[in-house]
Amino acid sequence: MDIFECIATRRSIRKFLDVPVDQETILSIVEAGTYAPSCGNVQDWRFIVVDSKDLMKTISEYSLGQECIHNAAILVVICSDPEQTERHYGLRGEKLYTIQNCAAATQNMLLAGHALGLGGVWIGAFDENKVRDILGIPSSVRPQAILAFGYPAEVPDEKIVKDLSLITFFNGYGARIKEVHRVLKDYHVDWERRVSEAHSAARRVQERAITVTKEASDQVKTASSRGEAIIRGYQKKLSEKLEETKKRLDKIEKKRKR
Ligand SMILES: Cc1cc2nc3c(=O)[nH]c(=O)nc-3n(C[C@H](O)[C@H](O)[C@H](O)COP(=O)(O)O)c2cc1C
Repeated sequence: MDIFECIATRRSIRKFLDVPVDQETILSIVEAGTYAPSCGNVQDWRFIVVDSKDLMKTISEYSLGQECIHNAAILVVICSDPEQTERHYGLRGEKLYTIQNCAAATQNMLLAGHALGLGGVWIGAFDENKVRDILGIPSSVRPQAILAFGYPAEVPDEKIVKDLSLITFFNGYGARIKEVHRVLKDYHVDWERRVSEAHSAARRVQERAITVTKEASDQVKTASSRGEAIIRGYQKKLSEKLEETKKRLDKIEKKRKR
């Protein structure tokens, strides 16, 4: 998947399969965050990976009960240390740059997750103080965003974006150019085709991935319940043997006493 395809086909995913994500994948995503730009390269972000189901349930409660948080395989909480940016850049650093730094890292992680076949969603609606308390985040550090990741259990629609000519101005705010794509050397034609082709391909891959992951997860569940049945069988036999041995020992003991 090239960068344009990745950007164009990423969508927020809020339904996840009950399948774990391995540590290597999680760390690759987090590492992608560390390559984001930051003011003066201060890298004032801190990332907390949460994979405890209990913590995820509580964080979901602190986030208007959003189910995607509870049902995700992992969460990444993106925190900032505004004191660091303030030290270097004053008020602008504290109030603006620190937010932009973390937003850039957050988007990097979303794109990396998507490129690795995961679904993810950016969560902004949460009680900062409660999340800070439960994760032991110092009062000077701000949890800015939560990313919920997991293998997708839904296939989102193609994204409708605002037309470039409505939101792009040339040489001054509000100065629209009607045929913006002509100015941009008809790049638009290529972009639209790329997006549409990439989307169809991504949809096919995602649908297949959902089926395969579901099948694999069912197989794991069947194998695990088979394993449990075998263990239960052994345990039963073992306890029968133990009972027999106990009876024999009792008999021997009685004889000995006589
Ligand atoms: C700052 C910010 C906060 C967001 N907060 C939430 C949230 O609390 N819950 C949620 O489900 N989605 C949240 N989103 C995701 C947006 O709803 C989503 O990105 C938007 O609808 C566009 O859809 P797309 O991500 O599929 O392109 C947030 C996104 C951003 C950038």
